[in-house]
Amino acid sequence: MKNLVKVFLFSALVGVSLSRSLAAAEAAPAKIAIVYFSQTGNTRQLAEMIKAQTGGELIELVPQDAYSQNYREVVTRGKKELDGQIKPALKDGKVPSIEKFDVVFIGSPNWFNTYATPLATFLAGNAFKGKVVIPFCTYGSKVGNTLVDITKACPDAVAKEGLGTSGKDVKGASVKVQQWLDGLGFKK
Ligand SMILES: Cc1cc2nc3c(=O)[nH]c(=O)nc-3n(C[C@H](O)[C@H](O)[C@H](O)COP(=O)(O)O)c2cc1C
Repeated sequence: MKNLVKVFLFSALVGVSLSRSLAAAEAAPAKIAIVYFSQTGNTRQLAEMIKAQTGGELIELVPQDAYSQNYREVVTRGKKELDGQIKPALKDGKVPSIEKFDVVFIGSPNWFNTYATPLATFLAGNAFKGKVVIPFCTYGSKVGNTLVDITKACPDAVAKEGLGTSGKDVKGASVKVQQWLDGLGFKK
C-alpha cells in the first residue's frame, strides 16, 4: 500500500514539473532573425524597419567579393551567377546560421525577377525545418518572383505573408511595414 502511495506521489510530482516546464516553454518569446542582402541600401532600410518593430537580430549577408558600384558590372556578374547557379562565398567563407532562431525574416533586392545570388548561398547553407520564414524585398519596377522564390527555397518552413516595396519609396514605407507586421501579430 505504502509503495502505491509513493508511486502516486512521484507521478503527481512529475506531472506538475512537466506542466510547469511546458508552460515556461510556451511563454518564452520567439527568437527572431532578420537576414538580408542589400547592395545599394534599400533592402537594408526595410530590414531596419522590421528590426524596429520586432526587436529581431539583424544579420547582413556580406559577399566575400563585394559587388561593383557600377550598375552594369553588377548586372553582368549577377546574371552570370544566376545562370550558372553559382553561390557566391560570403564574408570569411562562413554562412550565418539561423539555428537558434524561431522566426526568420529573409530579405533581398529583386535581381532578375528573383532573389539576389548571395541569398542562394545562405538558403543552401541552412535548415529551415520547424522555422517560420517571412520574405521581404525591394525592387526597381516590380516584386516579380522574389518573395515566392524565397519561400519555395525553404519548403520545410512555415511560410508567412511577405512584403515587397519599391526601392525608391522605401523611406516612406514605414506605415505599410507596420501594418504588415501588425497583421502578422508583431504588434509593437
Ligand atoms: C543585378 C540587378 C538586377 C535587378 N533586376 C531587377 C528586376 O528584375 N526587376 C526589378 O524590378 N528591379 C531589379 N533591380 C533593381 C533592384 O531590385 C532595386 O534597385 C532594389 O531596391 C535594390 O535593393 P538594394 O539597395 O537593397 O540592393 C535589379 C538591380 C540589380 C543591381
